[in-house]
Amino acid sequence: MLKIGVLASGRGTNLQSIIDSIQRGDLETEIRIVISDRKGAKALARANKYHIPNQYINPDDYATKEEFEQAIINLLEEHKVELVILAGFMRLLTPYFVRHYKNKIMNIHPSLLPAFPGLNAQRQALEYGVKIAGCTVHFADEGMDTGPIILQAAVPVKEGDTEETLAERILQEEHRIYPEAIRLYSEGRLKIEGRVVKVVE
Ligand code: GRF
Repeated sequence: MLKIGVLASGRGTNLQSIIDSIQRGDLETEIRIVISDRKGAKALARANKYHIPNQYINPDDYATKEEFEQAIINLLEEHKVELVILAGFMRLLTPYFVRHYKNKIMNIHPSLLPAFPGLNAQRQALEYGVKIAGCTVHFADEGMDTGPIILQAAVPVKEGDTEETLAERILQEEHRIYPEAIRLYSEGRLKIEGRVVKVVE
């Protein structure tokens, strides 16, 4: 069974959707560890609730970003993690980390990439005035939200939407496509050709 490790900084609703998929029997993977760079992140409490090993790593304890990431890598390796899931992890990984887990890191971003990378994607979408928004699961590369796209889902932007209402609508889709992308990976059905990901039967 595919062993995954989840990196999360915040409330962890995407982590929850993965846990729920596993519990429903829709996803045959094992969450070996949840790691957070924020003390008290709700994601850690969620992991605890399901007896999933979890760990807070304080970035301030390390002199450099690489040392901090090495500490994460050590934990992931200790738990034999084969696929790293970024679920609201609010840090850009260094090329060192990305190379270490080349094509083995997934991220979810709340926009239809390549539109609106980076922070506050939903606000960017509203301010730009797009009529369709959405979310993207992609493999992480060295850039910010630039890696090969695995799955996307679209939602309408409605009259009177606020950042919150739009984010909530997008989040529903995130919770559907992230577990789905992991499932495809676990079944060996994702083939990366350049920057194009093919889903094979
Ligand atoms: C999600 O909107 C995700 O797309 C973005 O960060 C947010 C994390 O939410 N990368 P949660 O912690 O999974 O609830």
